[in-house]
Amino acid sequence: MGKVKVAILASGSGSNAEAIIKWASMTKHVQIACVVSDKKSALVLERAKKWSIPTLIFNKNKKETRHDFDQRILFELKEYSPDWIVLAGYMKLLTINFLNQFPNKVVNIHPSLLPLFPGKDGYGEAYKAGMKESGCTIHYVDEGMDTGLIIDQRKFSLIDGESFEDFKQRGLLIENEFYPSVLEKLFSESSED
Ligand code: GRF
Repeated sequence: MGKVKVAILASGSGSNAEAIIKWASMTKHVQIACVVSDKKSALVLERAKKWSIPTLIFNKNKKETRHDFDQRILFELKEYSPDWIVLAGYMKLLTINFLNQFPNKVVNIHPSLLPLFPGKDGYGEAYKAGMKESGCTIHYVDEGMDTGLIIDQRKFSLIDGESFEDFKQRGLLIENEFYPSVLEKLFSESSED
């Protein structure tokens, strides 16, 4: 059986993307085909280059519709023929035409215990709300904002007196370990189909 091919979409620092790239490099069955970013200055692009992963950058023109933007990405992605789309800090919603090309094969990690605190600042909102227990969620992606079917969650407690920065950093390290472990399961289950 061939390798499962993955395209990672990311807009930011890329710690999750790099954790996934690293994990894939140690497996025999997963290949990171490319890293796609909508931000040309995103650190994730440097991380991908360090691992010799092809990078694709798309700048959304103001006049361009979300549909057209996603179509552009789709067109370029064809060359890499990904089986799965893995979002890792990708800050745009995907349109239905894009999602329909990869049925049940688009996943995301979100920094809260969904359905609590969807949106851009999961850790920030959980911290401000004084949540004693927080976590991260891996879910399938639909057209909504962090509304897709939940695959798995990892909980962790707020440490007494912990600063927001420390809390967020700790959360991110947990994500970096959790995301590859969930993908491992997901890809092996789907190859049994
Ligand atoms: C993570 O907290 C992830 O859950 C959220 O965006 C952040 C991305 O961090 N969707 P990084 O770019 O992977 O370091």
